[in-house]
Amino acid sequence: MADTGKFHHPSAIMPRSFYGLKDGAPIFNLVDGLATSLPSPRGVFVGDNLITFEKRLGFLDDKILMDAFLRNAETVAERGALWRIVTLAWAARSALRVEGDFVECGCYKGNSARIISEVVGFADLPRHYYLYDLFQHDESMPHHSMMEHSETLVDQVRARFADMSNVTITQGRVPDSLAVAAPEKIAFMHLDLNNAEAEIGALEVLFDRISPGGILVLDDFGWLAYQRQLVAEVQWMLPRGYRILELPTGQGLVIK
Ligand SMILES: C[S@@+](CC[C@H](N)C(=O)[O-])C[C@H]1O[C@@H](n2cnc3c(N)ncnc32)[C@H](O)[C@@H]1O
Repeated sequence: MADTGKFHHPSAIMPRSFYGLKDGAPIFNLVDGLATSLPSPRGVFVGDNLITFEKRLGFLDDKILMDAFLRNAETVAERGALWRIVTLAWAARSALRVEGDFVECGCYKGNSARIISEVVGFADLPRHYYLYDLFQHDESMPHHSMMEHSETLVDQVRARFADMSNVTITQGRVPDSLAVAAPEKIAFMHLDLNNAEAEIGALEVLFDRISPGGILVLDDFGWLAYQRQLVAEVQWMLPRGYRILELPTGQGLVIK
């Protein structure tokens, strides 16, 4: 894996992707200092604003997951987000126990959906994967743009899933685009819109369609930069009797 710093143990992974820093140097020095602090530099994960040591990191032994991840995660930020992918892969695999399709609102380049699809062998499953995004950005939109938003991104994502006839990609604004195509029953749903109103809109339409035991992952839930989503989602879930687990990755987790 790229940029492993001073750690050479196989369980040490250090893509230096951090968000919200005013100066990267002190934290990089702190991370390098870990190598000398630890009797043996093992169980180290550094990336995506998450630093661990002496942790099992059992997912590194999961060949199916790691192969899919390394085939698809290319940028430093994508590599740094490995632990978020681990959550998604766990959720997707666990959701195979229950009836329903897979959904991602905010698929962007299709990166996490592609990894999940490869992990569970989605192309051969009797289920459907529904992906939604605007794929392009203009300044009137309430959420921030992404580097690779463009007029051609939707076609690139369609090409990325061309080998899977059970994937439907819908371009447009969630929740409006859910009227174009949406599943009746959902086993796994990933909400990643960086946009509180749109995520609540998606919940209004889709949450009731999640099967009992189905799993919802809220990507931005515990990130302070997206606190409006947390407030809105907690307020939406509590009266319905659901509590959202904040994961160290910043994701929120709900089991229906
Ligand atoms: C952080 S990216 C998603 C990353 C992706 N889930 C992944 O794992 O690689 C957020 C995406 O949400 C999309 N988005 C934001 N608001 C939206 C809306 N109302 N409808 C559809 N897409 C939206 C943006 O276009 C952007 O591509």
